[in-house]
Amino acid sequence: HRVDRRQRQMCIRDRCSHVPAIGVAMDTGITHEEYWKPVFEGFKKSREWMKKQNPDVIFLVYNDHCTAFDARCIPTFALGCGVEFQPADEGWGPRPVPAVKNHQKMASHIAQSLVLNEFDITIMNEMEVDHGLTVPLSVMFGDIKQNDEWPALVIPLCVNVVQYPAPTGNRCYNLGKAIRRAIESYEEDLNVIIFGTGGMSHQLQYKRAGLINSDWDKRFLDLMTEDPVGASQITHLEYLRETGSEGIEMVMWLIMRGALNENVTEVHRHYHVPASNTAVGHIILENNA
Ligand code: DHB
Ligand code: FE
Repeated sequence: HRVDRRQRQMCIRDRCSHVPAIGVAMDTGITHEEYWKPVFEGFKKSREWMKKQNPDVIFLVYNDHCTAFDARCIPTFALGCGVEFQPADEGWGPRPVPAVKNHQKMASHIAQSLVLNEFDITIMNEMEVDHGLTVPLSVMFGDIKQNDEWPALVIPLCVNVVQYPAPTGNRCYNLGKAIRRAIESYEEDLNVIIFGTGGMSHQLQYKRAGLINSDWDKRFLDLMTEDPVGASQITHLEYLRETGSEGIEMVMWLIMRGALNENVTEVHRHYHVPASNTAVGHIILENNA
């Protein structure tokens, strides 16, 4: 039974899902409008899948946007170990969604396991979470209102992809493997899903603002399923050149991918352009036995 449950530990990635305007579209009830319809159509199957999985814990890899961190403190990898995380945001302000509750005991175990395995992450006992974390949750769980509760506990891992230097894809891939070892060695048999978020191609500023590279994005999705080691070797320079300055967020997918088996089944894929200034890409992968 233990093994069976573990085989089900899965992975999702989604980037799109962190586009702040996706959260605003849900919060203001305009997801049925012409512009947003195709974006949310592609998540119908994902939400059904999510309901069936009924996870205990979501290990959520995401990036902060100067909400919890700013230039005063730039941890490369920060693990949320506090009791709960209140929503906060720049720009549009905090979303009307519930606080995110942690599985503190598992988070502490993961912190210990990672550091003893020589991944020296930063431990956060207090932290607010922005659209980078709450939008992927909303996309996958549907409308969860402020007075409801998120259907699962969440362990957040915040990755610096905002301020140079971001971690390499290879480092992220190996960290994913260490996270898997940590989760598998936890004393209790829980159903854990890992989200990798961020991406896909987009650039929000300066001369190449608006850049979207669908061919590259789609190849990246193929690599997620078929060749994660190849994906882990993509250089920073290639992300920047081919996918714009914010495309570097895709290194976060490698953490999710490293936590899965090399052989996976692609359960669902969704790709749509545009959502606000970005390409929306989403893939659900399950471990093969
Ligand atoms: C947009 C996307 C982001 O990831 C973000 O943090 C802010 C804005 C956008 O597409 O508009
Ligand atoms: Fe962002």
